[in-house]
Amino acid sequence: MSDSVRRFLLTGASGGIGSAVARELVRHGHAVVLSGRNERRLAALAADLLQRHPSADVGIAAGDLSGASGVAAVVAAAGQGGRALDGVVNCAGQSWFGHFEETPDSVLDTLWRTNVLAPMRLIQAALPLLRGRRGAMVVNVGSVFGSIGFPCFAAYSATKFALRGLTEALRRELADDGIAFVYVAPRYTRTALNEGAVEIMAAATGMNEDSPEQVARAIVAAIERGTRERVLGGPERFFVWLNKLLPRLVDKALGRQARQMRAYLNPSAVSLSIRTETSR
Ligand SMILES: NC(=O)c1ccc[n+]([C@@H]2O[C@H](COP(=O)([O-])OP(=O)(O)OC[C@H]3O[C@@H](n4cnc5c(N)ncnc54)[C@H](OP(=O)(O)O)[C@@H]3O)[C@@H](O)[C@H]2O)c1
Repeated sequence: MSDSVRRFLLTGASGGIGSAVARELVRHGHAVVLSGRNERRLAALAADLLQRHPSADVGIAAGDLSGASGVAAVVAAAGQGGRALDGVVNCAGQSWFGHFEETPDSVLDTLWRTNVLAPMRLIQAALPLLRGRRGAMVVNVGSVFGSIGFPCFAAYSATKFALRGLTEALRRELADDGIAFVYVAPRYTRTALNEGAVEIMAAATGMNEDSPEQVARAIVAAIERGTRERVLGGPERFFVWLNKLLPRLVDKALGRQARQMRAYLNPSAVSLSIRTETSR
């Protein structure tokens, strides 16, 4: 393996953005260990990657990351046989669109476990493998909603704020260990995460959108350049900046948008983005 070619453990590889990231990493010559719960999807993706790039180094480490034992098993599988790991891309995630007051406790629990505890545990478990590797890196896939608290996505926003805070703190804590921490915040992207009410609401309110392939290119560009933090979308970057400087202005704009969004929250339209392994 050449110096610039690295081996990444990629979570969420069975999903829309994750599978595009896997393709982009392999296209750049990197080795990848695909992780997700849906083994059938992971196997199909691995087969497709190997058909397109016969010399690619593609592995699978399937598992449910919502608990500590699942995370440990995935990291152990990625390092099996003493294989080195140069990077972790935390892309697995779940979302919820609805009134915070009506968000079931089970959803709060799932969001926190998947979007926050899983990356925390995964980073802890992977650090011994990453330490000492040249160009070692952790990439956390956040969201624009991790910088702008978004109405009707309060619990999801909270998890992405936490992930951004984790990335910043670890970048500082591990600065002497030579491990880079990258945070990439996509805007609305059409994937299974947004199927149903979110998709309808996004179209009706004119939300800007990227394809999973555009997001994947941005993530891999951030990896190649070692970018600290990247928010996708010019208007979204501006709003993130404005939210820091003049939050009351953003309160007003999003207050108006929240009134529009509520129309898409009737019980038949509420998006059930929380997925169990067998739900797709
Ligand atoms: N789509 C957007 O608009 C958008 C915008 C900003 C940020 N993001 C972020 O981008 C990331 C990828 O989202 P996506 O749009 O690609 O969603 P997606 O298509 O629904 O994919 C989600 C991925 O997360 C995995 N996952 C969920 N729960 C898991 C668990 N308990 N254990 C292990 N894996 C689990 C899924 O695995 P299985 O399918 O195998 O269960 C799947 O691979 C997420 O972190 C999301 O928050 C998305």
